[in-house]
Amino acid sequence: MTDWSTAAIPPLNGKTAVITGATGGLGYETALALAGAGAEVVVTGRNEAKGRHALEMIRGEFPKARITYENLDLAKLASVADFVTRFAAAHASLDLLVNNAGVMALPERQVTADGFEMQFGTNYLGHYALTARLLKLLRRGDKPRVVNLSSLAHRPGAIDFGDLQGARSYNPWKAYCQSKLAMLMFALELQRRSDLAGWGLMSNAAHPGYARTDLIPNGPGAGGLLWQVSKALQPLISQSAAEGGLPTLFAATSPEAKPGGYYGPNWFYELKGPPVPAKIMPQAKDAVAAVRLWDVSATLTGVSFDQAAAA
Ligand SMILES: NC(=O)c1ccc[n+]([C@@H]2O[C@H](COP(=O)([O-])OP(=O)(O)OC[C@H]3O[C@@H](n4cnc5c(N)ncnc54)[C@H](OP(=O)(O)O)[C@@H]3O)[C@@H](O)[C@H]2O)c1
Repeated sequence: MTDWSTAAIPPLNGKTAVITGATGGLGYETALALAGAGAEVVVTGRNEAKGRHALEMIRGEFPKARITYENLDLAKLASVADFVTRFAAAHASLDLLVNNAGVMALPERQVTADGFEMQFGTNYLGHYALTARLLKLLRRGDKPRVVNLSSLAHRPGAIDFGDLQGARSYNPWKAYCQSKLAMLMFALELQRRSDLAGWGLMSNAAHPGYARTDLIPNGPGAGGLLWQVSKALQPLISQSAAEGGLPTLFAATSPEAKPGGYYGPNWFYELKGPPVPAKIMPQAKDAVAAVRLWDVSATLTGVSFDQAAAA
């Protein structure tokens, strides 16, 4: 069997996609490939200059690309709400949502505009609120899909319900692993809820293995020990951002992707290589914890899927 690549993406003309954190890294590569396949792509981010640059780069490769940039800061619930209001004013439906934006292992505890620990707030809670607010439009979409970015970091992760925000004790990696586990649990729970309520979604998740992006410089920082070690090992254990985007693109577009699926690279420890079904740790399959996390998230964000579904 030949390895899956962007050449296998079906034509996406007539489809609309929203990608978070798409001004760089994996999100940019995802936007590029989806636009190249004919989708109307809304590149979202928190930096307008980077957004403009991303559009120029995509148009450089695909002059006819149907792309726009919109501000969407996942660390501000008001920004999430504003984005959905603008998007809904211009679109009757949404076919694909890629919840990609993320920050990793911030050395000092930071908080979002709403007071959430930055990684839990950006990587997970912002996406929970965004997805709930977009549910109505997704339900009107053509075979709508939601793809959540998780990580190998979900494997050692645990949801610390006693200290979700790392307020009592902050550890950069514990917070990152928790946020990425939460994204995988959210993807699986969203599929279960969609099946029960008849929302008609395909909800799945992906991870890129180890892809060379700005994630380390933006988080633990270039120059630190992790950076030195990963720089030295990069040629062996990492892949490009474009290659790292393939599991997301598979989850988002392949007819072979399954509801509630999780996709990552095929090589040793899922570090690199073409996309295949990825290993889901038992704690990510804990449906009782997933319901608890869902309910806590609704309370924290003030956004309810049930209300959105009823609207
Ligand atoms: N690279 C890897 O090896 C790896 C491995 C596992 C999982 N992942 C996951 O893949 C996703 C993409 O990461 P990446 O590797 O492409 O890293 P990246 O190059 O640092 O890209 C992250 C993107 O998220 C955006 N972002 C950060 N905070 C945001 C916020 N508050 N609101 C909106 N956008 C925000 C960034 O925008 P700015 O440019 O404005 O900062 C950037 O566009 C993340 O969820 C990450 O956890 C990556």
